[in-house]
Amino acid sequence: MPVDPRRTLPPYRIKVVEPIPILGAEERRLALEQAGYNPFNLRADQITIDLLSDSGTGATSAQQEAAAALGDESYAGARSWFRFLDEVGDLTGYPHILPVHQGRAGERILFTSLLKPGQICVSNTHFDTTHANVKLVGAEPRDLPCPEAADLDSSEPFKGNIDLAALESLLTGPDGHRVGLVLMTITNNGLGAQPVSMANLEAVGELCRRHRVPYFLDAARFAENAWLVGQREAAYRDWTPRQIANRAFQLADGCVVSLKKDGLSAIGGFIGLRDGDLHARCEANLIATEGFSTYGGLAGHDLERLAQGVREVVDPAYLGARAASTARFAQLVNEAGVETVQPAGIHALYLNAGRLLPHLSPDQFPGHSLGCQLYLDGGIRCAELGSLYLGGLDEQHRLVTPAPFELVRLAIPRRVYTDTHLEYVAAILADIAKDPERVSGYRIVSSPPLLRHFKVRLEPLAAATGPTTRVGPKP
Ligand code: F0G
Repeated sequence: MPVDPRRTLPPYRIKVVEPIPILGAEERRLALEQAGYNPFNLRADQITIDLLSDSGTGATSAQQEAAAALGDESYAGARSWFRFLDEVGDLTGYPHILPVHQGRAGERILFTSLLKPGQICVSNTHFDTTHANVKLVGAEPRDLPCPEAADLDSSEPFKGNIDLAALESLLTGPDGHRVGLVLMTITNNGLGAQPVSMANLEAVGELCRRHRVPYFLDAARFAENAWLVGQREAAYRDWTPRQIANRAFQLADGCVVSLKKDGLSAIGGFIGLRDGDLHARCEANLIATEGFSTYGGLAGHDLERLAQGVREVVDPAYLGARAASTARFAQLVNEAGVETVQPAGIHALYLNAGRLLPHLSPDQFPGHSLGCQLYLDGGIRCAELGSLYLGGLDEQHRLVTPAPFELVRLAIPRRVYTDTHLEYVAAILADIAKDPERVSGYRIVSSPPLLRHFKVRLEPLAAATGPTTRVGPKP
């Protein structure tokens, strides 16, 4: 469907710009070799378009920077804290708000205060740090994504939902008493940026109340989920994104939020709570490990940027423009012959590398191979979400359990790249799609025991060759 630019115009113009490095093909080849063929080891000044993460990578607004200049750095009770508290308290409706420096600090504090060893934390899908923090307190993370999520090609609107039938049978079954928390991730970052419907969030709330289980949101992308609900769920068509987000928070007992995404800031997060006792336990932990309860590891200027950021992020014009830009990007990539998880979400595109590179078996890591090729051909950095990240390896680092899908995530920083930058990425992908067999597979050379994808080193199985048609600058 053609997009009407009158409805998708970004509601801002660019005032401050930053040059992006443009390397030649041989410089990129050398850089990747020196990085052990792991894009995490690249230096940012070796990257032309960085789609590794949408976290902490957004552009701030003039209003945010003006507010930051007013940051009050008093140790306790700073003005900036009260501004943050007013905004976040109003947005969520929770009586207790604890600031943290980023999402995973909030997860650690919440889980340490709420979960006991042996308990189960159930989610539509845990993000990787969330998964790790559940395990660190001796509890078991369990993912129950809805069955529709397994079909990457279907256009079902809410593939981020939890499987309600599976959740109910867990709660009523022999392990029911072990469930210590239900945590809904909105949007579902682990599963293709798919949104969760309000009907699903509501039904989870009813089940949790009936079984007396605490119910929390991992709401890193609360505004983007709200936008997609407004577009796709009939009952919410006339609600503003802010009203929808507020209602989602109200359905739960609390939340843990990384504000590095929809806080439109480089750093920040918070825990929102209804329960006073739990708040007291979390607060003691916060003071011991993050900072006093009126700053939680953040500077006054950070709190100011965040207070303004959570206000800007629910602007329908901003969300509509961002969603349209991702949808347009998805369309270009699909037209180039590269399949993506359908329907397009907002914060990232998920490329189906398994399908694009059928000549590579999972143990040759097709997702990683595509990511490396994007760097070699165009200086583009992204993240693999396939067997390198999720698969099971033996002691010789050989793949024994492949991941269900071989995906690559192209995360889109907020307000940073124009549609022209995304067209460049689509053009590089189009070149790869014209001759996919030139993409080499990879083998692991060394791998750390924990959090493999960050530090693993690899080597290509054959020398990767350049594109047949050059699109990148300075070949
Ligand atoms: N929850 C979700 C759903 C996330 O996507 C992230 C981070 C976190 C929690 C942790 O928050 O980084 O502030 O500690 N996601 C980033 C990403 C890193 O690239 O998707 P954090």
